[in-house]
Amino acid sequence: MAANHDHEKDLDKIILKSPALLKYILETSCYPREHEQLKQLREATIEKYQFWSLMNVPVDEGLLLSMFLKMMNAKKTLELGVFTGYSLLSTALALPADGKGKEEGSFDFAFVDADKQNYLKYHELLIKLVKVGGIIAYDNTLWFGTVAEPEEMMKESYLREGRNDVIEVNNYLAADPRVELALVSIGDGLTLCRRLY
Ligand SMILES: C[S@@+](CC[C@H](N)C(=O)[O-])C[C@H]1O[C@@H](n2cnc3c(N)ncnc32)[C@H](O)[C@@H]1O
Repeated sequence: MAANHDHEKDLDKIILKSPALLKYILETSCYPREHEQLKQLREATIEKYQFWSLMNVPVDEGLLLSMFLKMMNAKKTLELGVFTGYSLLSTALALPADGKGKEEGSFDFAFVDADKQNYLKYHELLIKLVKVGGIIAYDNTLWFGTVAEPEEMMKESYLREGRNDVIEVNNYLAADPRVELALVSIGDGLTLCRRLY
């Protein structure tokens, strides 16, 4: 797989709209720090899925998740929306040797990257599964920037369908007193919810 092709795919799926700045970020601090297994997974996904490989979380977001999990000393995590597993492998590589990915109970961290129309249902379930002080992270909360664009601008149907769901999720989470909130402009938008009670 040609490096240029990989690079173009990464530029597609990141919210930041300056190609030069994205290129700088990826080449300077992301690709040199990407775990070899993640690199292989990313390249194999591009090879197999072409356009839809954009569903993998991008490299900069994977690095953020990895550092974040280590800072939290997360041990029990959960993921909804696996695809080829870029975010799941990023998480697994960041967990300590006694970390667990599957047990039910009180989770430190949950990453949600599945069907956007069900994010609010997942939120009600996850708010119970994740412990107080734990994090639920929702991916794609800027939906390729369309959340800030008029509906009539949406040409691609998958963008149009997801946009209203994501706007509803963002409004709901912003008003949810059970969580502390940070919407991070990385990848396609990553909303971190820290359970307060
Ligand atoms: C954007 S992709 C996930 C990408 C993944 N996080 C990564 O970094 O490689 C969304 C995934 O969610 C899955 N999905 C969609 N609806 C789902 C559902 N109701 N339950 C479980 N998975 C679902 C899709 O099959 C797809 O694999």
